[in-house]
Amino acid sequence: MADLANPVEAHYTSDDLGAAILAALQGLGKDIEHLTPDDLAPVDEFHGGQRPATIRLAELLGLTGAERVLDVGSGLGGPSRFLAWHYGVQVSGIDLTAEFVRIAEMLTRRTGLVGKVDYRQGDALDLPFEDASFDVVWSQNAAMNIADRDRLYRGMRRVLKPGGKLALQEVAAGPGGPPHFPVQWAREPAISFLFSAEVTRANLQEAGFRVVTWQDTTQEALESAARRARNTTGGSPPPLGTHLILGDDWQAMFKNSARNLEERRTELFNAILERTG
Ligand SMILES: C[S@@+](CC[C@H](N)C(=O)[O-])C[C@H]1O[C@@H](n2cnc3c(N)ncnc32)[C@H](O)[C@@H]1O
Repeated sequence: MADLANPVEAHYTSDDLGAAILAALQGLGKDIEHLTPDDLAPVDEFHGGQRPATIRLAELLGLTGAERVLDVGSGLGGPSRFLAWHYGVQVSGIDLTAEFVRIAEMLTRRTGLVGKVDYRQGDALDLPFEDASFDVVWSQNAAMNIADRDRLYRGMRRVLKPGGKLALQEVAAGPGGPPHFPVQWAREPAISFLFSAEVTRANLQEAGFRVVTWQDTTQEALESAARRARNTTGGSPPPLGTHLILGDDWQAMFKNSARNLEERRTELFNAILERTG
């Protein structure tokens, strides 16, 4: 594991992830110079429910193709490339983890999407963008590493145009108690910050958003997490998957994800919000 000062970045950084992804794709017979977002979806949609969850959130949002979108916590770039490829929108991604940003750029070149999607390394709490510069701010499974939600949501509001939309897929704290660790976003509680859906909703409203749609997706997430935990029991994951990102304890993470949802220690929601004022 790389020696990084920020514990969240250290959690997500592993050696040779880009090479491991390309080797897995080659093993599957893909032409790694000419990839599609579909080829990459098993590994670069790094959130609960993967590609189907991205489609679901995009459909809730209702993109026309003319929007300029900011993806906060863009990871390896799966959702941003899919939105650009499928809906034709222009996307900028920002992520704390420098290695993810490098890999996102490398995969974007290989999918021919340079010019439609760009990435930069940075902190969601200090967004390096002009006020009112995006039609949509999008974020999937990134806020659970961020304690200061007030600052996060106010920053998202600032970069949105008046009337702009915020599309969120987030993990929330459930009534069942603290999560079992390790999970995909944290090996220990020190970098995990979950809040209940009610607290999050109130926080968003205080930050200057109106709720357009709020959807509890815990049941769907549980089914998908339980399927994944079952399919990987026995230690032989498919060649291309998010286990490549997660390191040696990927099996425990998959198992805990399903268990946390089952015991309602975690919940998942989708929300579409509108910037007021
Ligand atoms: C579970 S991954 C999700 C990646 C991507 N949204 C996806 O769905 O494929 C969480 C991401 O949030 C990023 N992240 C966590 N805290 C952040 C922060 N303060 N600022 C920017 N990115 C952050 C991590 O580096 C990681 O890439």
